[in-house]
Amino acid sequence: MKKILGLVASQRRMANGEILIKEAAASIGEEYKLELIRLPELNLQPCRACYTCLAPDQRCPLNDDLYFLLDKIKEADGIILSAPCYALGPAAIIKLFGDRIIALAQQIDVLWGKPCVIIGTTGIKGWEGYTLSALIANARFLGFDVKDAHIFLGALPGEALSNEKSFERIRAMGASLFRDPRQLETGECPTCWSDIWKFPEPNRAVCPLCGQEAIICSSEKGLIWNFGTAGKRFEKEALTRHFQVWLRAQVEEFGHRRKELSEIRNRYKGNDNWIKQT
Ligand SMILES: Cc1cc2nc3c(=O)[nH]c(=O)nc-3n(C[C@H](O)[C@H](O)[C@H](O)COP(=O)(O)O)c2cc1C
Repeated sequence: MKKILGLVASQRRMANGEILIKEAAASIGEEYKLELIRLPELNLQPCRACYTCLAPDQRCPLNDDLYFLLDKIKEADGIILSAPCYALGPAAIIKLFGDRIIALAQQIDVLWGKPCVIIGTTGIKGWEGYTLSALIANARFLGFDVKDAHIFLGALPGEALSNEKSFERIRAMGASLFRDPRQLETGECPTCWSDIWKFPEPNRAVCPLCGQEAIICSSEKGLIWNFGTAGKRFEKEALTRHFQVWLRAQVEEFGHRRKELSEIRNRYKGNDNWIKQT
């Protein structure tokens, strides 16, 4: 029996994200056990940038639920994540969890290839902003094998499953969890599926998430995007190199340059007026 972990980023009970996860799980097509975690109910604290988690045999020193969540993810055969769009991006708990990436990426070997589907929920068509791209980036940083990612429309709780098209879409998402990833959709980066692009030059596009590049040419039929080699940032080797090698080297470099950097920082020491809530 497959063990599915549903991660719900919405606080609302029985709302869109929650019922979409349940419907997706019901469409997996084999025996499964669905366990759910409401992410905002966990104690997840902001990363303190102490880099302790980079030291050999060390974990993040924050005394919260990060490793409880990590263990649940490791135990699961597949992950279904849902998050509402708040203020054009995913609900803040996603960023809070995602920011703990340095501690999490120390365990990339165990996380790598974990099947995952990503559900975004949004209230207004065209107001989804960067929600899906941000969710995809979080999942790919964790090494998940993203099988499908889609935004569902519905402002009211339950509304996201009030039409047949959404119902079919979520069922297809569930069915894909242990199968092949979905096809690329229009406008998406062919490597990571983000739909956000930067244009450093008028004829050059870069995916700011994975680094995929494209040269854009005009033809009689319109613009043609010629994609170069795949963006590398989310490849296992690149993630390992960044989070386990490069960052450790940075910590070492800080040790060597501590004095020089202190001199710069000390120029800004003084009679600061920090305002604190009492
Ligand atoms: C604080 C807040 C901010 C929101 N911001 C947006 C937004 O920027 N764009 C949008 O389309 N919907 C926005 N919504 C609507 C939710 O994305 C929508 O209701 C979604 O279905 C909620 O998912 P849930 O039912 O799983 O909680 C916002 C809702 C709240 C509570």
